[in-house]
Amino acid sequence: MDSLRVITTVRELQAEAERERRAGRRIALVPTMGALHAGHLSLVKVARERAERVWVSLFVNPTQFNDPKDFETYPQDLSKDLELCRSRGVDLVFAPSAAELYPEDAQTWVDVERLSQPLCGANRPGHFRGVTTVVARLFLAARPHVAVFGQKDFQQLAVIRRMERDLGFGIDIVGAPTVREPDGLALSSRNVRLGPLARQQALALVAALDAAQNALDQGCRQRDELLAGVRETIAGASQASLDYAELRDPDSLELAPSVLAGPSLLALAVCFRPDPDGRGGEVRLIDNRVLCPQPQTEDRA
Ligand code: PAF
Repeated sequence: MDSLRVITTVRELQAEAERERRAGRRIALVPTMGALHAGHLSLVKVARERAERVWVSLFVNPTQFNDPKDFETYPQDLSKDLELCRSRGVDLVFAPSAAELYPEDAQTWVDVERLSQPLCGANRPGHFRGVTTVVARLFLAARPHVAVFGQKDFQQLAVIRRMERDLGFGIDIVGAPTVREPDGLALSSRNVRLGPLARQQALALVAALDAAQNALDQGCRQRDELLAGVRETIAGASQASLDYAELRDPDSLELAPSVLAGPSLLALAVCFRPDPDGRGGEVRLIDNRVLCPQPQTEDRA
């Protein structure tokens, strides 16, 4: 018998959550938009360590796409996703329709105002409002004890943590480390849309993070100097244009001071064009690293 349950309605999922909770079993939810890859499977593994039941949601959330073309071309493969979930011992998949999660006359949004503004929020208006609204819906439907998200989407994780805190869901929000290809590219469902040249040049993201890390290790703490090195690295990739490269406080997401004094989030978003021979599509990739300046001699004195 197939041990993977697939549920498509909120009502059924809530009933299942109620049954599990009454039986004293903890539920860990891994919210995804499908097109599962090894990065998602690492979230499943983290979830498994924290609860008796692991549930995965598969839903390409229309309200978080500010570009309709990006929504239309977002990769989807339900049968492959179910197979991967089965292979990792996931207990339940929630795969609702848009109508199931968004009543036709819905008027309610969840908006984490300040943390949603900078970085991806600046160029993707409404993106985080869509994310927090759907994640709140998923939390209310699945009533998990734990929810696991990837640290690659650092701002998303910060925004969801704040939503959970502000609304008092009582859910433990867990961030799982970024999983990378052997050459260093952070795994993303969007990577499959890169043309061969753009795929090669996408390594500029991790090279830019490394450049900043190396400069920091050699004693540079000047924010603008570190960012200049990042921009130079991205500029070396002909198919790439930098959306943003910023250094910010990892908790408040406020701009880092001009001389770094403590841990600082280096966040990047880069858009790749199709290859000159037409292969691949427009793809926007993000990556990040928290840079930790070592105390300098004069700080220690
Ligand atoms: O990170 C994602 O895949 C999505 O933003 C999420 C959290 C599943 C909400 O749609």
